[in-house]
Amino acid sequence: MKVLVTGGAGYVGSVCAHVLVEEGHEVTILDNLTTGNRSAVPEAATFVEGDVKDVIADVLAGADFDAVLHFAARSLVGESVEKPDEYWHDNFVTTLTLLDAMRSHGVNNLVFSSTAATYGEPEVVPITEDMPTSPTNAYGATKLSIDYAITSYAKAFGLAATSLRYFNVAGAYGAVGENREVETHLIPLVLQVALGHRDKIMIFGDDWPTPDGTPVRDYIHIRDLADAHLLAMETNQSGSHRIFNLGSGDGYSVRQVIDVCRTVTGHPIPAEVAPRRAGDPATLIASSEKAQRELGWAPSRTDLETIVSDAWAFTKNLGSAAHSARRVR
Ligand code: UFG
Repeated sequence: MKVLVTGGAGYVGSVCAHVLVEEGHEVTILDNLTTGNRSAVPEAATFVEGDVKDVIADVLAGADFDAVLHFAARSLVGESVEKPDEYWHDNFVTTLTLLDAMRSHGVNNLVFSSTAATYGEPEVVPITEDMPTSPTNAYGATKLSIDYAITSYAKAFGLAATSLRYFNVAGAYGAVGENREVETHLIPLVLQVALGHRDKIMIFGDDWPTPDGTPVRDYIHIRDLADAHLLAMETNQSGSHRIFNLGSGDGYSVRQVIDVCRTVTGHPIPAEVAPRRAGDPATLIASSEKAQRELGWAPSRTDLETIVSDAWAFTKNLGSAAHSARRVR
């Protein structure tokens, strides 16, 4: 298929782009490189630098794409509480522009990168797709609103769409992993401590209503996540908007994640308790049964030690590359 990947230079988008190329698809990536890396774009993909809202009509015109995988977005829970205006414009308004451009140019197949943050603080876990959605931050609210828009476009205009609600994505695939200029995510930050780039990891609150007092999350391997995108794209049906949760089904507390990182890296990883971070829910654990049943998704890297080991292999390479770059300067 001929596929447009927005945000395909970012962490999740670039891994999906690599897997699409490996599976024989023709891939174009549209990314403004504000958080993405040009080096993460597969060599076989066509690359367009730009903002979706500014250039999407030109990119779609006459190109005859079969599908769009839409990753381009802002995605930090804490930042979205501070800067909701930027989240509503860059996520919600931009995606409406994309939906309208797809409609004008006859591109009907969409896979949308959604999030567990749409649910807010769940009453029970694991979370199934029919549970109430009540986001605790602007990030989740923008993604939920986009899901509503997609549902109505599917119903009225025959859009064929799937939203994939990711839980905590981690790990690496070959040479592609988490490599952000400003890092806020738990696993890459803990691994930076193991690498000697940070002195310690801060634990954002140990007074949460969880077994050890630190927040519990469901970590999903980036490569398993990519598989779900291809399955969704290949099975989308006109007039239908499907929503699937994607996680591993197990919850790990912040302290448990740090312990697994200690085991994998052999580093003591000092940790210190700090105040809670605004917008964080206490516990997020997915039920991915619907994706397994209806998409035929079969995650195979669900063990946290495997996820952290792959992330660690990537981080160590990145660390030595940065080290040699510094030395030659
Ligand atoms: N945390 C710390 N210290 C840190 C960084 C994070 O204690 O230095 C804690 C957070 O407070 C949170 C947990 O580790 O409790 C995980 O935090 P991350 O920042 O790694 O991830 P989030 O759970 O905030 O968010 C991620 C994605 C979102 C997605 C969400 C869904 O960034 O896009 O998972 O579960 F919506």
